[in-house]
Amino acid sequence: MGEVDPAFIQELEHRPKLSIIEAEGIPSIDLSMLNSPDAVSDPSTLDSLVSEIGNACKNWGFFQVINHGVPLEQRQKLEKASRKFFAQPWEEKVKIRRNEVKVLGYYDTEHTKNVRDWKEVFDFTVQNPTIVPASTHPDDKAVVEWHNQWPDYPHELREACEEYAEELEKLSYKLMELIALSLGLPADRFHGFFKDQTSFIRLNHYSPCPAPDLALGVGRHKDAGALTILAQDDVGGLQVKRKSDGEWICVKPTPDAFIINVGDIIQVWSNETYESVEHRVMVNSERERFSIPFFFNPAHYTIAKPSEELTSEKNPPRYRPYNWGKFLITRKGSNFKKLDAENIQIQHFRISELADHLEGALSVI
Ligand code: OGA
Ligand code: NI
Repeated sequence: MGEVDPAFIQELEHRPKLSIIEAEGIPSIDLSMLNSPDAVSDPSTLDSLVSEIGNACKNWGFFQVINHGVPLEQRQKLEKASRKFFAQPWEEKVKIRRNEVKVLGYYDTEHTKNVRDWKEVFDFTVQNPTIVPASTHPDDKAVVEWHNQWPDYPHELREACEEYAEELEKLSYKLMELIALSLGLPADRFHGFFKDQTSFIRLNHYSPCPAPDLALGVGRHKDAGALTILAQDDVGGLQVKRKSDGEWICVKPTPDAFIINVGDIIQVWSNETYESVEHRVMVNSERERFSIPFFFNPAHYTIAKPSEELTSEKNPPRYRPYNWGKFLITRKGSNFKKLDAENIQIQHFRISELADHLEGALSVI
């Protein structure tokens, strides 16, 4: 294992294959019509965009967007500031280190599924402060505020983060509209949930790793929120588990594109018409990699449950309602340290057919 701490080593079955499958990639979708002045004047163009989005969500859970309207300068400004921040000595970065009380800021010991990730991150929320539940206890109604922590260097990081967040928020609403339409719902069906949003942005830095065959930048996982919008650099490493055959497929970097994926909450809202798909990040021994995911998350008091319009007697709700804020802070706690138990998953709220049968059987008795 050489220089790699055993905490980073993945179980055999989860180790990445270094021979890469270059298969048909995730769909690429052109959003230029949303940003042109006469945009929605042609309903058939909107219809075809909506069906492209719907197919991508259904078949892949992942897609890429181009001509999305986010100015390139804004993205580049943040990418530059992020490089400067991570290039500092560790002693500087840990001055704004995250802990169990201050959950935002710098962090370099995150675990996914109890294996350490080969990465360092800087987290900040879109709303400052962000309101979340004070404890994971279901009956505790108390809330707390999360406050962003900003480093002294580089000085321009804060402004770059705030401007970028504003742009990405606009794009998120547009994407949620397209997704709502693709489900046959009114465009603004989900907007209300994001009023007191708990969205956050993460700056990721993956250093070169001496054992890319044993460790991962981020272990396999699904994103817990509604929607993720990822900016990745030109190095590559993101892999998506293809729904059709379970193969890990590399997402090739495209300059200035964003990668979008459906999170667990859309899976629940859509009653599994769309699914949140597993993905992971490979590291490599030569080049460092940077990425910036934007996690678009609803207000903490949101009760996530299948949309009534999408359920019926024939297609009953597949999830029990759950409180998003409690889910979020339970996850944050489990990422903080290695736990003995599996961390919280939406699967725990799934109404299984077996349970339905049992209930049916019991009610007969
Ligand atoms: C994540 C994630 C992908 C990447 O942080 O949830 O999936 O390419 N990141 O950094
Ligand atoms: Ni992810």
